[in-house]
Amino acid sequence: MAIIGTDILSVKQLLCAGEVVGIPTETVYGLAGNAFNDDAVLKIFSVKNRPQFDPLIVHTDSIAHASTFIISFPEKAKQLAEAFWPGPLTLLLPKSDAVSDLVTSGLSTVAIRIPNHPLTLELLASLDFPLAAPSANPFGYISPTSALHVENQLGKKIPYILDGGESTVGIESTIVGFEGDDAVVYRLGGIAVEAIERIIGPVQTVSHSTSNPKAPGMLKSHYSPRKPLLINPLPEILQQYSPNQIGSLTFDHLVDSIPTENQRVLSPTADYPEAAKHLFAYMRQLDSLPIEVIYAELLPEKDLGRAINDRIRRAAVREV
Ligand code: TXA
Ligand code: MG
Repeated sequence: MAIIGTDILSVKQLLCAGEVVGIPTETVYGLAGNAFNDDAVLKIFSVKNRPQFDPLIVHTDSIAHASTFIISFPEKAKQLAEAFWPGPLTLLLPKSDAVSDLVTSGLSTVAIRIPNHPLTLELLASLDFPLAAPSANPFGYISPTSALHVENQLGKKIPYILDGGESTVGIESTIVGFEGDDAVVYRLGGIAVEAIERIIGPVQTVSHSTSNPKAPGMLKSHYSPRKPLLINPLPEILQQYSPNQIGSLTFDHLVDSIPTENQRVLSPTADYPEAAKHLFAYMRQLDSLPIEVIYAELLPEKDLGRAINDRIRRAAVREV
């Protein structure tokens, strides 16, 4: 069992001693360690059971600090940083020698983010090193959006979880990299592509998979609940399962045929940020119900609906 609390000083001491801890962010909880301490970084990979070819995001608290981890800061990256940091945006930038190859899995770029959570910003301000942190879930499972989610899955392996309440954004950061002057979205996330395009104009979005060398860790099957999640039409699923064996995950409405207690509606008012906030918690709830299968409906392909659909599609893929 980890200690769940709000004692920033204890967390600071643990991090300085090379430990890894759970930290809150507005997107999802992170499993954090000193990004400048290779042993701490190795511990992150082992606690999470994550392959070392999947690089980590470095979390810091200012653009000035971020600038010391990189050798160049493209104009468009600066514009995005100024518009969205602190916030759910991760930038892939050419790394300086300050960042070890372990953090970036040998890539020449480092992923950087300033998270927007008061406790974690306070923690970062008290440290003289940045925090490497992947989402605090076992590799391949749904990301945690509360301290309890972290405790349930990693509590036995870490000493402390800093409790910052429920994550307000609820899905991971949007990852943006650069090819020459062009910005490329490598992972859809908490900042909609439309919002990015309002700042820097049209961007390309590449769907990430194992075959995408730019984002080696973005495996197709991710965010998965243990129960099969299907996006097939409901009538088809009803041919195989009885209504009380099915749970449903929908955007703004209940569906016929399935018992109401097995249904989770992401946002009854069809609000995308609210839907994103509920997504992972509802997936977890459905996963723990006495049902056989989860029926999920895709959202309209706009705004955060795109990032939510990306998670739903990945959860629907069973094999890695
Ligand atoms: O919202 C978030 O981004 C959360 C919170 C904790 O900040 N973090 C998060 O980390 O989602 P993680 O490790 O679960 O996902 C980071 C993704 C991975 O798929 C990894 O492959 C990719 O970022 N990544 C990291 N560094 C990269 C790099 N240099 N080039 C390409 N992809 C990179
Ligand atoms: Mg993750």
